[in-house]
Amino acid sequence: MSRNRERFIETVNNSLLQTEKLASKGMLFSYRGILYPTSVTSPETLEALQSFEARSDDVILVGYPKTGTNWLEEIVRELESAGGKYTEEEMRENINAEKKLDTFPRLEFGDPGIYERMKELPSRRVITTHLPPHLLPRSIFQNKAKILLLLRNPKDTAVSYYHFYNNMPVLPSFASWDEYFADFMNGKVTWGSYFDHLVEWNKYMDNEKIMMINYEELKEDQVLGMKKIAAFFGFSLCEEDFHTIVKNTSFQAMKEKSKETHGMFGDILFRKGVVGNWRNLFSKAQNEEMERKFEECLGGTKLAAKMKYNVYCKA
Ligand code: A3P
Repeated sequence: MSRNRERFIETVNNSLLQTEKLASKGMLFSYRGILYPTSVTSPETLEALQSFEARSDDVILVGYPKTGTNWLEEIVRELESAGGKYTEEEMRENINAEKKLDTFPRLEFGDPGIYERMKELPSRRVITTHLPPHLLPRSIFQNKAKILLLLRNPKDTAVSYYHFYNNMPVLPSFASWDEYFADFMNGKVTWGSYFDHLVEWNKYMDNEKIMMINYEELKEDQVLGMKKIAAFFGFSLCEEDFHTIVKNTSFQAMKEKSKETHGMFGDILFRKGVVGNWRNLFSKAQNEEMERKFEECLGGTKLAAKMKYNVYCKA
């Protein structure tokens, strides 16, 4: 329920203030064949991750980078908070607990000691991660924590990630969109291939502890999307709460308060917040290549139907 962003803002601001980029080679490391940014995590933390103890009432939010995870997290925290009917005192205590325990905004960020400290956080914990199922701590599945998976069409995700890579001083830059596109298609970006993530998650389509929601569906009708989320986690809100949350979590509102919530990272994160921005960058050949890849990996699957590739990625 609480949110400790101070440590995160401090880390990100410090790295963004560096006038020169770190040597590209040192910005990323590979762990079990997948790239990660050195600025926020380490092989030791990823190794320690399996010791994380999930609780059945944890709210686990999962999304590949740039699918809108910061937006979803804000929405779900507001839903949880309104549904929890916490007193001011309880809210304060929880914020203090997160500060004291030096938590991080992603499950896989921080130092290896974080999983031990997270045991002391009061329920309900809202935990966000970019990891695919095979890297998630087993206890999430064993203890039957509910997972909300965020999906975004692969073209807008790719474009968002391209700008993010080039604007984040702690990530290597790409000389051109074409150079980046090849790496995105081959999974040579942080957190690996989006297609691999989707293929893995497709196997969980019928798992009753997992709900999937699209970025596009939230953009189209946020109240309806939030009602589905609230029903899944068992949050009880009144009609007015939903409308207040829509206002608080609009792109404009989040962008405006981003200095407080995300520090200097806010200017990079809140870029456009629209559906279909890919049209400015994709060439005809790239459209065809992605269509082939999507079909090859996910053609005919339930997940493909859920994502509505033909609606959002139609050239
Ligand atoms: P764009 O780069 O296409 O604008 P993540 O949080 O997973 O890093 O995803 C970032 C993407 O979510 C960015 O997409 C960002 O603009 C978008 N986003 C952030 N807040 C949003 C909001 N309140 N409404 C809609 N989109 C939002």
